[in-house]
Amino acid sequence: MVSNKQKYALFCQETFVPLYSKPWYMDTVCGSENWDVWLFENGNQVMAAMPYYIENRGRLKHITKAPLAQNNGIIFNYAENLRTSSKQKFEEDVINAATEFIEGLGVDVYEQQYMPTFKNYLPFFWKRYSVIPRITYRITPDKTPEEIWSSFSSKFKNQIKKGQRMTKKITEVSFDEFISLYEKVYIKQGVSCPFSRDFLLNYLTCCDKFSAGKMFCAIDINGDLSYSAYCVFDERNMYYILGGVNPDSEKNNTGEALLYHCILYALQNNLTFDFEGSVIKGINHFFRKYEGNPTEYFRIRKVFNPEVVLSEAQEQAKMLKGFEDKNECFVHESSYIDDGVYIGKGTKIWHFCHVQEGAVIGENCSLGQNVNISKNVHIGNRVKIQNNVSVYEGVTLEDGVFCGPSMVFTNDLTPRAEFPKGSANYKKTLVKRGASIGANATIVCGHTLGEYCMIAAGAVVTKDVPPHALMAGVPAKQIGYVCECGEILKDSKTCKKCGKTID
Ligand SMILES: CC(C)(COP(=O)(O)OP(=O)(O)OC[C@H]1O[C@@H](n2cnc3c(N)ncnc32)[C@H](O)[C@@H]1OP(=O)(O)O)[C@@H](O)C(=O)NCCC(=O)NCCS
Repeated sequence: MVSNKQKYALFCQETFVPLYSKPWYMDTVCGSENWDVWLFENGNQVMAAMPYYIENRGRLKHITKAPLAQNNGIIFNYAENLRTSSKQKFEEDVINAATEFIEGLGVDVYEQQYMPTFKNYLPFFWKRYSVIPRITYRITPDKTPEEIWSSFSSKFKNQIKKGQRMTKKITEVSFDEFISLYEKVYIKQGVSCPFSRDFLLNYLTCCDKFSAGKMFCAIDINGDLSYSAYCVFDERNMYYILGGVNPDSEKNNTGEALLYHCILYALQNNLTFDFEGSVIKGINHFFRKYEGNPTEYFRIRKVFNPEVVLSEAQEQAKMLKGFEDKNECFVHESSYIDDGVYIGKGTKIWHFCHVQEGAVIGENCSLGQNVNISKNVHIGNRVKIQNNVSVYEGVTLEDGVFCGPSMVFTNDLTPRAEFPKGSANYKKTLVKRGASIGANATIVCGHTLGEYCMIAAGAVVTKDVPPHALMAGVPAKQIGYVCECGEILKDSKTCKKCGKTID
């Protein structure tokens, strides 16, 4: 018997199927055993297909967006010369059959993003699916390079010109080198890269094998690899899917110039350039400077499991002003808590503090007098912040961190009052679990303080700190090791007080 996947492979030869739903792409990003396809057939003819990726999250089963895929969803094979209303009727019939299939699968969540050409979301809406709009920017090949250039603001044109001057050449590098630069973006933010090196290596190899990928790398005038972009394409569109940046090159505008080069390459090849729109504010602000058409597409979603509905509602409630239960946490009446802040159970916020929008503070923390927590800062559980500390945007404190009185965080290495860099360019600081920072110490931004390290009073930290290190002086140098319990380890790495040994 012919399987659905075999029929779908034939369907893909006859109908335009976006890159992300092509069988080889699904095999690459999902693993061949983790995706399948539902078909809507009329006799022997496949009239519509819905490839889908199933992800097991604990005991929950999600149909969800495949990794590195902007869209999946239903692909319609329309009969020729259909009236608009007949086309919509056909779409409705297919969606009704698809939702019946989805509901029969017994998944906990259905969530797929549809390609921008799909607009008829009402049949989903009528079945209580939610429809969440997203935006990408697209530049179509009917535009000439001159038209595109003249659409840019003069400030942006100057940035691109500077980037072009700072670029020695645009070339390709080895996959390994490309991946290392891509990983740097996450390292800088103090978060782990969402994809393993093996996954990325296989991804790049497969896109290359199917002639569906092109690498663009900017080598700057110092000979350093400064920016990289990997674009993938199908018969109609080229998508900017992976990008890497050398943190030392962020200001030389080679990134702006490189992306402009990618756009021109797409247009020369008669492809629409799709920026793979991001919901992250800083990235959106960067992309929109290229004056592409804001193009809407839809995320269609339904949760079938009541437990998931409840836990999602709880998460949302936590972000509402006033959610913090006065019996569960304490906020002194002289302090200001902005909208969209979450404060965990048992946390105490003392006099004259300000917690800004989007900040998340865990359970059983204590904020002394005159503490400021900036926008979107995340603070773990059992964190103690002494008087007069500002935790700026870009700083993350893990569980059990201690910030001594009047210690100072920073988020801009080269500040200028007249040339603000904007929050997207703040350098991140990650303070890992159990670390302590002494009174009046300064942490120069862009560094990670390892687990259970200890920073002496008045020290100025200028580089990454290893776990358990005792750092003192200006600039701070390692002068020893400290146990988890706070005991300074003198002659051995085993603590005389609690018996623990550090690695
Ligand atoms: C770094 C620290 C943990 C060292 O404690 P310790 O081992 O008992 O220190 P000692 O007094 O034995 O000093 C050891 C050496 O380090 C030096 N030293 C101590 N604290 C220092 C500091 N903050 N900066 C620079 N050097 C320091 C001492 O001068 C001494 O140097 P020497 O051997 O050349 O004489 C401690 O001094 C410190 O700064 N703790 C933080 C206190 C704090 O800020 N608490 C906040 C909450 S109130």
